[in-house]
Amino acid sequence: MRDRLGALRGQLRLPLIAAPMFLVSGPELVLAACRARIGGAFPAPNARTLDVLDAWLGQIAGQHARWAAAGEHVGPWALNLVTHRSYDRLGAELELVERHRPPIVITALGSPAPVIERIHRYGGLVIADVNSVALARKAAQAGVDGLALVCAGAGGHTGYLSPFAFVPAVRRFFDGLLIVGGAIGHGGAVRAIELLGADLVYAGTPFIAATESLAPDRYRDMLVRATVQDLVLSRALTGADAYYLRESILAAGLDPDALVGKEKVDWSNSQGQVKAWRDVWAAGQGVECVRAVEPVAAIVERYATEYDAALAVPGFH
Ligand SMILES: Cc1cc2nc3c(=O)[nH]c(=O)nc-3n(C[C@H](O)[C@H](O)[C@H](O)COP(=O)(O)O)c2cc1C
Repeated sequence: MRDRLGALRGQLRLPLIAAPMFLVSGPELVLAACRARIGGAFPAPNARTLDVLDAWLGQIAGQHARWAAAGEHVGPWALNLVTHRSYDRLGAELELVERHRPPIVITALGSPAPVIERIHRYGGLVIADVNSVALARKAAQAGVDGLALVCAGAGGHTGYLSPFAFVPAVRRFFDGLLIVGGAIGHGGAVRAIELLGADLVYAGTPFIAATESLAPDRYRDMLVRATVQDLVLSRALTGADAYYLRESILAAGLDPDALVGKEKVDWSNSQGQVKAWRDVWAAGQGVECVRAVEPVAAIVERYATEYDAALAVPGFH
């Protein structure tokens, strides 16, 4: 595994992956990330139909083949699969996965067990997205190659643990690939995660503002305006805790303060039912580091400059 990780690291300019985001990451964002020599990923449900998914996977795999033929060095790409029992497209999606062979598959919202063998058969790596030590242990026992530890402050369904606790807890029983996500909006923090003993960083929120994301312009602009004080933590929308931009809740005609600490609230407004992610926009604490709408290449450049500066900082002694 350490050889595979070494090869993966060799493809990257810095240990960073633009994390998969529902309704935000598509092929353009993935390819821009790979071109900037970081990892790029998208969730399969973002493709509305299986035909669209087939086209997106073909577009990304085809571009990688052309880059390889031209001798261009680019970052790897990953597909995020929902492995929850209630997700009825998984079987058909796996057939497309076998055809297009994403080098990395990240499972979320369910056990990775049903997909591991099929991904391994063509040489792909399987990484399970987890937000607790118990889930990390279960996924490790199922035989995944890597774990993505979703920590406190993360965008999307957030985690609860500090990486300072989560990484050492998981390193006690898992020596595979460790990715850490949650509010990592600065290149210095990427270096800090490496110093903790993890391998790669997952950043979502900072890439919502990328010009190549699928996010509407108003979402990008709102993200740039927002600070960490403008986030509302609620589980009332999806049943799981997530941070939302206060301004987007107000724009949907709802009261942000009424959502805090509630398990369920009425999410309808005069236009009908309000949907999380589509009408009310998520962002993690990494929002604090988002200061402009700019291309992926510029975001990666900033991370790389900060990361290189952190490499040069001497320790206490
Ligand atoms: C708007 C949004 C949508 C997300 N959707 C997904 C998803 O569909 N699947 C998934 O595994 N993670 C999803 N995530 C979580 C990210 O993959 C990643 O773990 C997280 O963004 C890292 O934290 P950060 O946003 O603080 O950088 C989402 C995050 C955001 C902000």
